[in-house]
Amino acid sequence: MRAIHHHCHLPLPTPPPATKLPPSAFTSTAAAVTHRKAPSASSSSAASPTAIDLQSADSQAAAFWDYQFLFASQRSESAEPVPLRLVAGSVPADFPAGTYYLAGPGLFADDHGSTVHPLDGHGYLRAFSFAGDGGTVRYSARFVETQAQREEREEGTGRWRFTHRGPFSVLRGGKRVGNVKVMKNVANTSVFRWGGRLMCLWEGGDPYEIDPRSLETVGPVDLVGRERHDGDRTAKDRWWELAGARDVAGLAVDVAAHFLKPVLHGVFNMPPKRMLAHYKIDPTRNRLLLLSCNAEDMLLPRSNFTFYEFDCNFELKQKKEFVISDHMMIHDWVFTDNHYVLLGNRIKLDVPGSLLALSGICPMITALSVNPSQQSTPVYLLPRFSESAKGGRDWRVPIEAPSQLWSLHVGNAFEERDEVGNLNIQLQASVCSYRWFNFQKMFGYNWRTGRLDPSFMNMVAGKEALLPHLVQVSIELDRRGACSRCIVSDASKQWSRPTDFPVINPALAGRRNKYVYAGTASGSRRFLPHFPFDSVVKINCSDGSATSWSAGSREFIGEPIFVPRGTKEDDGYILVVEYAVAKQRCYLGVLNAQRIGEADAFVAKLEVPKNLTFPIGFHGFWADR
Ligand SMILES: [Fe+2]
Repeated sequence: MRAIHHHCHLPLPTPPPATKLPPSAFTSTAAAVTHRKAPSASSSSAASPTAIDLQSADSQAAAFWDYQFLFASQRSESAEPVPLRLVAGSVPADFPAGTYYLAGPGLFADDHGSTVHPLDGHGYLRAFSFAGDGGTVRYSARFVETQAQREEREEGTGRWRFTHRGPFSVLRGGKRVGNVKVMKNVANTSVFRWGGRLMCLWEGGDPYEIDPRSLETVGPVDLVGRERHDGDRTAKDRWWELAGARDVAGLAVDVAAHFLKPVLHGVFNMPPKRMLAHYKIDPTRNRLLLLSCNAEDMLLPRSNFTFYEFDCNFELKQKKEFVISDHMMIHDWVFTDNHYVLLGNRIKLDVPGSLLALSGICPMITALSVNPSQQSTPVYLLPRFSESAKGGRDWRVPIEAPSQLWSLHVGNAFEERDEVGNLNIQLQASVCSYRWFNFQKMFGYNWRTGRLDPSFMNMVAGKEALLPHLVQVSIELDRRGACSRCIVSDASKQWSRPTDFPVINPALAGRRNKYVYAGTASGSRRFLPHFPFDSVVKINCSDGSATSWSAGSREFIGEPIFVPRGTKEDDGYILVVEYAVAKQRCYLGVLNAQRIGEADAFVAKLEVPKNLTFPIGFHGFWADR
């Protein structure tokens, strides 16, 4: 086990004086600082006290630097949990004992001039442990010791040299052209604890198992059982696959897949089954649900979705495979009592981009682009059990939702049958427009310069509808399974601000819920009106009303997490990290979920030690003790 660096200073840069920045657009601001000491993620120089001394909190310069600080690397780790100082309120005595785990990237730049897209940053797992009875909250954090991390972090010195390209980045200090190390499983996207085991997930590789107490990495886990299960599929499972594969156009795709598989596996080291980072937990059946795609799906107009259901002993109870004749990219998905539901994001191969991507000149993701050729969004309702399919509709035919929705995250879905046998399926999802979504530019990252441009995430006035927002998709099927209605509407009549990371009380996953909580933007920052988020919104789905809570000035927030307390749906707490970028500090905030919208919603604020200030996290998990 390598040494843990407890003493490192914060790797934040010193911003230039605000007056030196051009007044017009962020893009030119980003370009202007290119020739200075590299900003944010790309620097390891110590911060100066003047770093927060910007002339106005609502200036363009403050907005630019606040954004950079959100993506500043943190090289220090803390294996020993440190008690957090309470700076406001108190931890309620009825706050349950347990741990909030938060996955996300920790490192965006190496010591040899390479920077990476935030999605390619090495996984840095954070853990906030609540003693219960209003007692101490302790914090620890460690990098996930992935295979890529072992290769890129020098033993002893702790210096980094990126050797993998990663799907979203290009190397500067490493081998660029002809580098086939594309798949860089950094285990940075999500985390769950199930059956006593803690796992960090990434979009496209095996999960890494972590010791829940020490956060020490145990190693990668082949949860989808490539060796164990592929040889003993039942005839029933096989039927699902063949039913999808035997369409007319399937033959050419079969041939292409036949040639692609060994190249992707042998040359690019891609596992045949690509595990997605988003998992689901079905509290009714007490199951963990996982989803994988085939490696070649990214490049072909056919998708192989395999759903896995595990019991609480990690025994695989069910595996269903669906082959769909569509070229799609799925990030998040959802389940109901009888269905797996996919909101399909249509993609296409960019042929010139593919050639440049394969050579290593461009990030691999430039091989793909959104496919806006159809004005609708396919919604696939896939039967979860054999009996769900009986007498029903053809699952290979999607329901077409009447607008182009690029699905980001799905908070919940449920289905209910009325007295005459019609089935109503409702989804609560965060979506953006196909016109806005851009693989390469997520978070405003520019792979050519390695800079982060906040303007990409902050579209000019009048185009807010393109940005992420919460919608409700309602589908009605008649008794024969034919779709009689599909409506997409705003989740709330009262809240139209950009919103993402929808979460619910996890006890209601797959069943009718009333409340959704999500990260959102208050719009109070003139130059960062839409992203990063600074507020939590609570939406009442039954009447469309919304209430919200906002963090302090120059503070951003990440994904909220619901921690149940009692039996009522909103009886619980919301945990949310506050990134006080101007102070270069992180806080853990505790909100009373029932009081959101009231002056007393905020109940506690805990301060992470400054030397452990961390960059923005992605997805988290609450685990009761
Ligand atoms: Fe996600």
